[in-house]
Amino acid sequence: MPIHWFPGHMNSTRQAIKDRVQAGLDVVIELLDARLPGSSSNPLLAALTTGRPSLKVLNKQDLADPAQTEAWLAFYNAQPHTRAIPLDAGDKAPARALIKACRELAPLRGDMHKPLRVLICGIPNVGKSTLINTLVGKKAAKTGDEPGITKLEQKFVLENGFYLFDTPGMLWPRIAVEQSGYNLAASGAIGRNAFDEEEVALELIATLKRRDADRLRQRYGLAELGEDDAVLEAIGVKRGAKIRGGAVQMHKAAEALLMDFRSGLLGRITLETPDEMAAWRHEAAEADARKAAEREAEKAAEKAKRSGRRNT
Ligand code: G4P
Repeated sequence: MPIHWFPGHMNSTRQAIKDRVQAGLDVVIELLDARLPGSSSNPLLAALTTGRPSLKVLNKQDLADPAQTEAWLAFYNAQPHTRAIPLDAGDKAPARALIKACRELAPLRGDMHKPLRVLICGIPNVGKSTLINTLVGKKAAKTGDEPGITKLEQKFVLENGFYLFDTPGMLWPRIAVEQSGYNLAASGAIGRNAFDEEEVALELIATLKRRDADRLRQRYGLAELGEDDAVLEAIGVKRGAKIRGGAVQMHKAAEALLMDFRSGLLGRITLETPDEMAAWRHEAAEADARKAAEREAEKAAEKAKRSGRRNT
């Protein structure tokens, strides 16, 4: 699925992260969407932050399937130099768990002389501003620019010896895993003009049928679930997406379904499991390798043709 966004913004965020690494960084908090804990993880972040310890925060856990959240926490906690905790905006005092996990990841930092410098990253709409507002409350001061640090970065002092640096939400240049593109779009991370809502809604229906067909049936009062486009049409009928004459406006039906999913009206749903994500990444890597080999073969054939022409 082709998704369009704005590399200019992405490049400046990338630069902001590089600048932070150079200025000093001890722990990276990556805010993930608990409904898509694999797809919402930035594949470039580890390289950009040169392998600094990482705290994965599975945010919006209130919208995700609790059993799947456990599975994803276990998955991330099993990775080296990584911790994972669940969170949602209903947690009124998230600072304690967050600060504790960061301190455990960088035990030698965190006093007045050696402050713990933590960078918080996440895709757009993952809930970063909401979390920072809760963390910062009225107590913590937002400080001015540091020399040499891009204006994109904001610094907050959460407590003595604990600095939190914030950069704008960032997506990455290419979504290699097709299903990740659909899941990101369904979650609301990608601007609505950057993808086809109907296509994303049809993929969401396919996923919901796999995950929790009963919920889909119950929510829209559907006796049977037929082909994905028939289901979308039926949802359109239930959600009043008909035009005069009786035809269903499929894009309106798609919008309604996406809205229901995003707001949690469909229930607590996680779109991907760690095993699925691993399989998708493996398939994408294989497809990339195949394409690269094809390109090489084409280049070699072109070269052979050119040298054949020269020799005749
Ligand atoms: P961002 O800075 O990462 O871009 O995200 P932001 O905090 O603006 O949050 C994006 C949307 O997600 C907001 O909803 C926010 O209320 C919601 N949100 C944040 N954290 C959670 C959470 O843990 N659980 C749930 N269910 N929602 C969360 P909005 O509709 O765009 O705005 P608003 O009218 O609710 O403020």
